[in-house]
Amino acid sequence: MSDVAIIGGGIVGCACAYELAKAGAQVTLVEYGKAGMQATNAAAGMLAPFSESHAPDAMLRLGQRAMADYPGDVAALEAECGFAIELQQYGILRVALDDGGAETLRRRHAWQRGLGIPLEWLDGDACREVEPRLSGRVIAGLYSPAEASVNNQMLALALLRAAESRGARIVERTPVRRLRLRAGRVSAETGAGAIDADVIVLAAGARSGQLAASAGVGLPVRPIRGQMIALGGMRPPISRIVWGPRGYLVPRANGLVFAGATVEDVGFRRRTTASGLRTLRAAARALVPQLGAAQVQFDWAGLRPGTADGLPIIGPVAGTNLVAATGHYRNGILLGPVTGKIVAHGIATGDWRDVPAEFSPRRFGPRAAADA
Ligand code: GLY
Repeated sequence: MSDVAIIGGGIVGCACAYELAKAGAQVTLVEYGKAGMQATNAAAGMLAPFSESHAPDAMLRLGQRAMADYPGDVAALEAECGFAIELQQYGILRVALDDGGAETLRRRHAWQRGLGIPLEWLDGDACREVEPRLSGRVIAGLYSPAEASVNNQMLALALLRAAESRGARIVERTPVRRLRLRAGRVSAETGAGAIDADVIVLAAGARSGQLAASAGVGLPVRPIRGQMIALGGMRPPISRIVWGPRGYLVPRANGLVFAGATVEDVGFRRRTTASGLRTLRAAARALVPQLGAAQVQFDWAGLRPGTADGLPIIGPVAGTNLVAATGHYRNGILLGPVTGKIVAHGIATGDWRDVPAEFSPRRFGPRAAADA
């Protein structure tokens, strides 16, 4: 098995490190800050393959596979690491506040039910029977019991620790300045010297596009900011995820409710704004009026790795030793662990056939430039 360098210590990089180390690779993971502290830390931890899906496509199928693996993977990691990852299989209630919203939910219900996805249609009163503190303005809802959430911070930490205990070397606070491509081989330049490996996995989240470009490789990934707030702190007024037209509420095991998230194309500016926070508070209050009086315990923002077609980029970059594992946009927590498995299998066997063509780096055309 090859030696592999992974650029990026978010959930995708950590999962790749874990799976590759398990498969016997010599793994070095390089992270520019603290592992798990960028977009992975900023997430709300939702596992929402159906609620985040817009069509019966490859993305939905990958999400279903990821979701099916989650309980077993979490149990194995918890047993190995000794701390709780807080998988909460409480489902998602998507709600509508007007006729247009109800119609959108109805269409979603029709096509997803046709695929056998478990869903329950609820009128407004039935929604309030399930979640008594929901606003009287809720007129309909779609309950999806098979969706869940996880403590994203603890999951990333568990993957990192499990990778380390299998021999992966974790190098933190070491920014990769650029990638260099010579004679089909990519190496990573850091302040502490160059990193060479048989395979370089690019899992640098929102920075992946810039880093790929520095080696003349065209992987169009760009940052999409999401702002979040944490509300309350005693007992959550909801007992499952509630998702409305302008945002979602995720009750966490510690009693807080995370309310998110904005979707903003503002480059690498990773900070919250007064208007973003106002929007989140208003969206939360519209769903659960009681949250209008809840304290904002903290606020934060993260940069999702967005791609032009909204799909992740997974697989080898033709003619190089570079493997892409990036562009997971709104679904990094859901898809991180399964991406680790796919990448480890591909690198170990050279067989990438289980990666749908929709996710291949090849969809962006041949490599963007000759060797730099
Ligand atoms: N996964 C939800 C979000 O990105 O806002």
